[in-house]
Amino acid sequence: MGINATIFAYGQTSSGKTYTMREITEKTVNDIYNHILNTPERDFSIKISGLEIYNENVRDLLNSESGRNLKLLDDPEKGIVVEKLVKENANGDQHLRHLISICEGEK
Ligand SMILES: Nc1ncnc2c1ncn2[C@@H]1O[C@H](COP(=O)(O)OP(=O)(O)OP(=O)(O)O)[C@@H](O)[C@H]1O
Ligand SMILES: [Mg+2]
Repeated sequence: MGINATIFAYGQTSSGKTYTMREITEKTVNDIYNHILNTPERDFSIKISGLEIYNENVRDLLNSESGRNLKLLDDPEKGIVVEKLVKENANGDQHLRHLISICEGEK
């Protein structure tokens, strides 16, 4: 019953995709946790996955053990899914920022 959104950054090398997305993810994390603070009557569960598609190979950015070529499957209920893609629970805004920084390869 929620809202799905996709932000797709496209552009040539050094055009500012990574720079722009960092700003957007930071604002998004702030918005999510402000909304949670302002909605005490509800329980929220925040999960994050990270994947990279590079040279047509799919890699799990939160699970370096899973190799560099995860399979895409057509699930009858969920649609296209990446097999075995890890979903981490975020238990707070700092933890979510930490998980995002792992996806960016900083930790
Ligand atoms: N709006 C901006 N203001 C100031 N500096 C910027 C801006 N956008 C990008 N830069 C700087 O330009 C450089 C290249 O940007 P960035 O790394 O985001 O490019 P990219 O599109 O992700 O490139 P690549 O395709 O190689 O990953 C970086 O040093 C970044 O800090
Ligand atoms: Mg980049």
